[in-house]
Amino acid sequence: MNDSQHKFSPDEWDEVNFPRSKVQEFDRVVERAISRRGFLGGALAFGSGAAVMGTAFLKGSTAMAQESTRFAFEQIAAQTDGTVHVPDGYSWDVLVRWGDPLFSDAPEFNAETGVPVQGSDRVFGENTDGMELFNVGGREILVVNSEYTNNDINLPHTEEGDPASADDVLLLQQLQGVSVMEIEEGDDGWSVVVDSPFNRRIHHNSPMKIVGPAAGHDLLKTEADPTGTESLGTFNNCGSGRTPWGTYLTCEENFNGYFGATGEMPTDEKLVAGYERYGVGADGWGYNYHVHDPRFDVSKTPNEPHRVGYIVEIDPANPDSTPVKHTALGRIKHENAAAVVAPDGRVVVYMGDDERGEFMYKWVSRDSYMPGADTSTLLSEGQLFAAKFNDDMTGEWVALTPEATGMDAAEIAIFTRTAASAVGATTMDRPEWVAVNPQAVEAYCCLTNNSRRGTTNDDGSIKTNAGGDEMSVNAPNPRETNEYGQIVRWRPHEDDHTVATFDWDLYVMAGNPEVHEGTPNAGSENVNAGNLFNSPDGMMIDTTGVIWIQTDGDDSNEGDFVGMGNNQMLAGDPVTGEIRRFMTGPNGSEVTGLTWSSDRRSMFVGIQHPAAPFPDGDGSLPRSSIIVIKRDDNALVG
Ligand code: FEO
Ligand code: CA
Ligand code: CA
Repeated sequence: MNDSQHKFSPDEWDEVNFPRSKVQEFDRVVERAISRRGFLGGALAFGSGAAVMGTAFLKGSTAMAQESTRFAFEQIAAQTDGTVHVPDGYSWDVLVRWGDPLFSDAPEFNAETGVPVQGSDRVFGENTDGMELFNVGGREILVVNSEYTNNDINLPHTEEGDPASADDVLLLQQLQGVSVMEIEEGDDGWSVVVDSPFNRRIHHNSPMKIVGPAAGHDLLKTEADPTGTESLGTFNNCGSGRTPWGTYLTCEENFNGYFGATGEMPTDEKLVAGYERYGVGADGWGYNYHVHDPRFDVSKTPNEPHRVGYIVEIDPANPDSTPVKHTALGRIKHENAAAVVAPDGRVVVYMGDDERGEFMYKWVSRDSYMPGADTSTLLSEGQLFAAKFNDDMTGEWVALTPEATGMDAAEIAIFTRTAASAVGATTMDRPEWVAVNPQAVEAYCCLTNNSRRGTTNDDGSIKTNAGGDEMSVNAPNPRETNEYGQIVRWRPHEDDHTVATFDWDLYVMAGNPEVHEGTPNAGSENVNAGNLFNSPDGMMIDTTGVIWIQTDGDDSNEGDFVGMGNNQMLAGDPVTGEIRRFMTGPNGSEVTGLTWSSDRRSMFVGIQHPAAPFPDGDGSLPRSSIIVIKRDDNALVG
């Protein structure tokens, strides 16, 4: 792992392993776009992508200019500097930074070396990501993911950040996972309530309970846990979700990166196939856990990777509760989990699997949610589905049953990608966050980008995902070497999220009309010189129906990305399609994670892996942080 690779986020690491294909010749892009006119129903407004802009229910694109805006702010310009920008009439402040204490016995943050191993489980973790706020008996409890670590910053005494000892590994393990912390608003703004009885760190060694169809299966048994029901740690906690009954869902994404082998890799056929599909290899991704902790060495503990990659439920109201891994919701590189209650009370959870050419999923519970009643079956008894998008802008959630997949229930839960391949699910451009609109029966998924979409191998064959499913261009993923991303939206038939069929469109295709005018890479009509962005990733819809879109993309502000500036957060109107830039992050950072105070007067936004010395300025270490944004008149912000 060289120094420059340490700068990559886990999502980007995949790109390193599979180098970006050569950029398509401009002429070829044009040619392909024209030839797809018929494919997209003859309506492709060449260069605007309007055919996929939902003629059925997104009428606003052309009407947009005439309609009055629903936004209470003026769009801000793209930025390239090292700090945060918000619109006039809004202000921002820092709530908490990596290494800030959750307990008064936490070690002091060192300006040069960060957090010492001793007590590293008593501070706010690194690389903040998905988060949700819960009001527990009038107290504000913020639950936040820490997705991964910047090893070179955390381990300055090592060669290029490669962990060299068990202590180095332990430090990284304790700075990831989930932080639960009470926060409060005082005269000086928001702060963490140090030593609150709700404060808690859940990390890579915290006890977990495994439930659902895979629990107790042979593939989950290890020497340390012969029951296959009790694992340690939750890993690469990316996006978040919340249940109607007030628990937090943390989503295990690039878990494969923590595993490696010091001896022979297992040769069992099923294990090998699973490792290949999920990217478990001998070298790991530079965490070196396997060298210092045999649990992560698949030559010694071959089943440990099967105990990771799930949706994990945490009860923020009960600091002593054991987090629960829900295998029924599948084992994928989980981005987030968007839960909604259907008209009959059943619980629907939408989920994306963030890897090129992987799939989108939906869970429907067997039982109905009743406030105050038992909720223990709602994420373990039910049916998992994978999405199939048709060219005619309809789609279907295909049930991953033993009959349809040829796999038993436990195998479907453990090798979910294989099950979805078996039913012919649609390969997507890296599904990131899903969000459900509380104001309409519809949901959205960010498809962040896909450098391999529609490209070919040396022998001329079309590139595939790790399961061999071809990544030809398709209707919801219509661009080759998709470097900008798009957001797909679907509306279930019968206005019911449990129904298996739906209509879909693209809410937006990001692009750059300044660089690619007249081609699909210009983006859809709701993209313009004023709101340029790429790689939509985080997404939440507030109580009023505003779509908040966060980006994790190329912030070089050059070439194809000129005019886009730093990663940012934009607000989208689901009805008119209007998109406005609301906030920009510091250079190098990804903007990810958004939640609100109970009174909706404060929004909490995550700033992950800043390159600039944010937030403390020149000479300080860059620290991932959660910021608070408020209106200066203290009016509602969501
Ligand atoms: Fe952790 Fe796919 O973002
Ligand atoms: Ca993400
Ligand atoms: Ca991403």
